[in-house]
Formats: sequence, structure tokens, C-alpha cells
Amino acid sequence: MATDLRGNPLTCSADAARRLDVAMTKFHIYQADPVAEIDALLAEQPDCVMGHALRAGILATATDKAFDSELQPTLAAAERLAPGANAREQAYIAAARRWADGDLTAATETWAGIAITHPSDLLAVQFAQLGDFFLGQSQMLRDRVARVLPRWDRDMPGYGYLLGMHAFGLEECGDYARAEAAGREALVVDRRDGWAAHAVAHVMEMQGRAAEGIDFMRTTAPGWSPDSLFAYHNWWHLALFCIDQGDIAGALRLFDERVSAGGFGQALEAIDGSALLWRLWVLGHDVGDRWSLLQQPWAARISHGIYAFNDVHAMMAFVASGDRTAQRDVIATLERAAAGGATNAMMSRDVGLPLARGLVAFGQDDFAGAVRHILPVRGIANRFGGSHAQRDVLSWTLCEAAIRAGDAPMAQAMAAERLAAKEGSPVAQGWAMRARALARPMAA
Ligand SMILES: [Fe+2]
Repeated sequence: MATDLRGNPLTCSADAARRLDVAMTKFHIYQADPVAEIDALLAEQPDCVMGHALRAGILATATDKAFDSELQPTLAAAERLAPGANAREQAYIAAARRWADGDLTAATETWAGIAITHPSDLLAVQFAQLGDFFLGQSQMLRDRVARVLPRWDRDMPGYGYLLGMHAFGLEECGDYARAEAAGREALVVDRRDGWAAHAVAHVMEMQGRAAEGIDFMRTTAPGWSPDSLFAYHNWWHLALFCIDQGDIAGALRLFDERVSAGGFGQALEAIDGSALLWRLWVLGHDVGDRWSLLQQPWAARISHGIYAFNDVHAMMAFVASGDRTAQRDVIATLERAAAGGATNAMMSRDVGLPLARGLVAFGQDDFAGAVRHILPVRGIANRFGGSHAQRDVLSWTLCEAAIRAGDAPMAQAMAAERLAAKEGSPVAQGWAMRARALARPMAA
């Protein structure tokens, strides 16, 4: 019987198993290009069911309607071969089907279930972590890795990648010291591990260590950047550090040279593009005509409503560029999704719609309205996924909106939150100063 690198059973030839290992390793560190590896394998061995299941999982968790035309035939091929597959492979196919059908929770639990039965199945842990990320389930980002860690030893292939996943989960749970240690250890194992570097960047972001973060990202980039399918997001983190340090030109340069380098061909890239420009635009910085790069990529996606997190980031581009028609389209998409039945219905109803309305209000200079829509969502925003650092855009927008609304108590409250988290941040200090000025009685 063929197995993967870590001894998990496969119903394919020994040659196909080795080639799947290559594809999986690339996927573990988000290096180009696991799908190309799988396609080359399937061209020669079209009955390799795990090849189809892996391909389906990768395409599904891109959470981008643009890949749907590839995902559906891949899933169909996997399901045709499923009767001859083993139970583990069948579970992979079922998970991808559940994700494609919009039940992100069931899909994630299915991948996680594979890892419980097969603790050395790094791929299942990774898909489950991606699921938890898109679901905003911080605790599970940590615990699904923790449950398999005792079954590993450091000599097992891929141990460093498991550490990198654990690092991110620990960070999202606020266990920053352990997260940083695990992330740095993973980078020692493999300096190409962009996910591990990313976990350390998150630690520094949450702790307000922007100057150190700039140094860390620049020092480690020669490892994680070449041939990476994920580097744009690490560059985005570097840009956030730059903004915090007041280096606006540096942040825009990163947008021009790194974050936009892929032409926003996938939704995850467009999210970062929007999130970066929005932070600058909200602060009143001139971002030139850069929003135009995001309008078409978002316009092609907004009518599908598969993930509210995407829709809210699309809304940022349409608000900042003043496209009222597209703004209405995003609201209509979210309303349609909210009336549906899949995971995205909850995301759209609870978080996506109020946030999108808050952004529209901000764009219309209705800053009190922006606060009114966004504030109640602060505490439940994890329901529509993403990381703490990504959802920080809410607090960012709230600070500015409260100040521009002239609402002194609200502005002081919002600024105090940020200062408590990032005492040394010039951006937070700037908001705190403006909030204090609002509270002072006007000079006679
Ligand atoms: Fe991140």
C-alpha cells in the first residue's frame, strides 16, 4: 500500500504518492505551485483520487468564486473515484464538497476529524486551520494543532510546518511569547516557511512592535519571499508596520511593488490591497489612483456572495472611489446572502451587512452613522472570519469616525483602547491627542 511522507494511506501508485508529497510540501509553505504539481500528476495518472481531493481542497479554501469553474469539475472527478478510495481520502472529498456547498463549519470539522484519526496527517491539520481562520475560530486555530502535537516528534517530516501552524493559533489566542518562540523555531527548521514568519509578524503587530516588525520581516524575507504564493500577505504585514511608524511612502511602495504584484488575481490578495489602502484613506492620506486597481477585481466578484469578509473589503474600494452603484450591489449581495442558509448567511447577517453600511456612511461623511453601524459589531466580528490584525480595521475606522463626528466621549474611548494595546504607536497617539482636543472646552 502506498503512503504519504508521514505514513498516511493512499490508494495510488508509489510514484503518485511521491509526487503528491511534493505538491503537499509546496502547499504547506505556500510555495508555487502545488496545483501545477497536481495537474502534471493527474495528466499522467488521472485515477489518483487524492490528487483530485487535494486539488479540490486547495481551490475551495481560496474562498474565491473565480476558482469555482475549476473546483466543480475537480470535485466531480474526485466523487466519481470515491467508491475506490480509502476512508481518509473519502473524508477529504466530503470536506471539500461541504466547503463548496457553503457549509464551512461542517467542512472544517471533517478535515479536523481526519486529523484526529490520523494525527500525522499534516494536510488535514492545515485544511482545518484554514477553515478555522475563515470562520474566525481563534481557539480552534490553536487547539486543533495542540491535539496532534503529542503524536509528533521533531524528526517527522513537516514538524516545522506544524509548529508554524501552532504559532499562529497561539498568537490568535493571545499567547504571544509561546507563539513567537514556536514561529521562530519553525523558521530555523525551514526559512521558507512563510506561515511561521507570518505568525511572528502577527505577534509583533498585536504587541505594537512595529519597528522590530519591520526589521524582522526584512531580515527573513529572503527565506519566505521567493516563489511564494503567500508573500503578498507578509508584505502587507510589513506595510502595516510602516504605517504605524509613519512611513506612508514605504507602505505605498509595498502596495505598488508587492501587494499588487499579482494583479489581484485572487480574492485574498484583493482583501489585502483594500485593507491597506483603506487604512491610509481613512487617515486622510493621498493614495493616488490606486483604488482603480481594485475596482475591476472586486466588481467581478461581488455578485456571488460566497464570503462576507470579501464583500466588506470590496465595499472599501467602492466607498473610497465613490462608486455608489457598486456600493448598492455589495449591499444587495450581502442581503441576498443573509437570507440564504449556508455559513455565509450568518456572516453576512451578523457582521457583513452592518459593517458594509458603516463603511458607506463613512464615505458619505456620516461619521456618527458609521460609528452607530460598526460599534455593535466590534465584539462579534470574529464571526465573519479573518485574524485579529485584519479585523483591526474596524477599530481603526471607528477611531477616525468618532473623532470626525466630534463625539468626544466615543473618540476618547476608542483611542484609549488602541493606546492600551499599542502604547508606543504614533498612529494611536495621534488619535488620542485629537480625541483629547475634542474634549477640551473651546477657547474663548
Ligand atoms: Fe496575517
